[in-house]
Amino acid sequence: MQLSTKHLLGIKDLPASDISLILSTAQQFKEVLQRPIKKVPSLRDVTVVNLFYENSTRTRISFELAEKRLSADTINFTTSSSSVSKGETLLDTVHNILSMKVDMVVMRHSASGAPHFLAKHLPHTAIINAGDGINEHPTQALLDAFSIEEKIGTLEGKKIVLVGDIMHSRVALSNIYLLKKMGAEVMLSGPPTLIPNYAKEALGVQVEYNLAKALKWCDVANVLRIQLERQQQVLFSSLREYNLAYGISSKLLASINKEIVIMHPGPINRGVEIDSEVADSHQSIILQQVENGVAVRMAVLYLLSGKKGE
Ligand code: NCD
Repeated sequence: MQLSTKHLLGIKDLPASDISLILSTAQQFKEVLQRPIKKVPSLRDVTVVNLFYENSTRTRISFELAEKRLSADTINFTTSSSSVSKGETLLDTVHNILSMKVDMVVMRHSASGAPHFLAKHLPHTAIINAGDGINEHPTQALLDAFSIEEKIGTLEGKKIVLVGDIMHSRVALSNIYLLKKMGAEVMLSGPPTLIPNYAKEALGVQVEYNLAKALKWCDVANVLRIQLERQQQVLFSSLREYNLAYGISSKLLASINKEIVIMHPGPINRGVEIDSEVADSHQSIILQQVENGVAVRMAVLYLLSGKKGE
């Protein structure tokens, strides 16, 4: 089985069959990662460049580790130490890197659409979107899906609520597309100023501004960070007030009388969108998400490398 696409730019245009193939391949890599020797030769002689034009901890380390576990040669590029600060365009930077015979590009960029732009100009190099502006973060949605299935079984019919700053979250958009394609029900909850008006109709999700009601409804709550760096205007009064109305606390969870799964893509802001007690509780699968990220990214790299079956 092969993916229907040469790049992973987003979940929006990814067929459900590709999502299933990535998740089942990730399951095999997760087993490999439990072995004493975690390295496999699948991407030997494949060179991958990690182009990170925006800050990242988890995603960058996770991709790099996935590449190393697959025996790929990796190059890391971050803007602060590159010629971007000397005025080089994105396309020139990439053409220069590719002339050194690079096979795959993993890219994070603050501009929505940056990886799509690269894919248009470099059709023969596999491009993987590691987060573009407020658009998509496909590998995060895939690792979230993998983690939900691992915890509570198939996504079909499951109820997932995304909590918080939906408007500025690429994690939210990729999650919505993926969960809907795989037959889950999706609800958004947060302050009205952080949930786009068009969400209900355009994305086919439910919206519930009352967080307690949303939590009562769901099997899983995926809690998002407030993306202050992307907000140009004041959208809520203060972080303290946000925490009171939309922070996930153990008191709130106790009041809904059912046990739900708590997720967060990280980085978490303790005491803002999630209280420490909840983040560190047995209900939270935040660190499992990080662990699963490596297996999911190994699957994506492997399937896009063209090495399958060789
Ligand atoms: C997310 C991102 O960068 O979009 N983080 C991540 O990749 N794990 C979410 C965030 O920054 O809040």
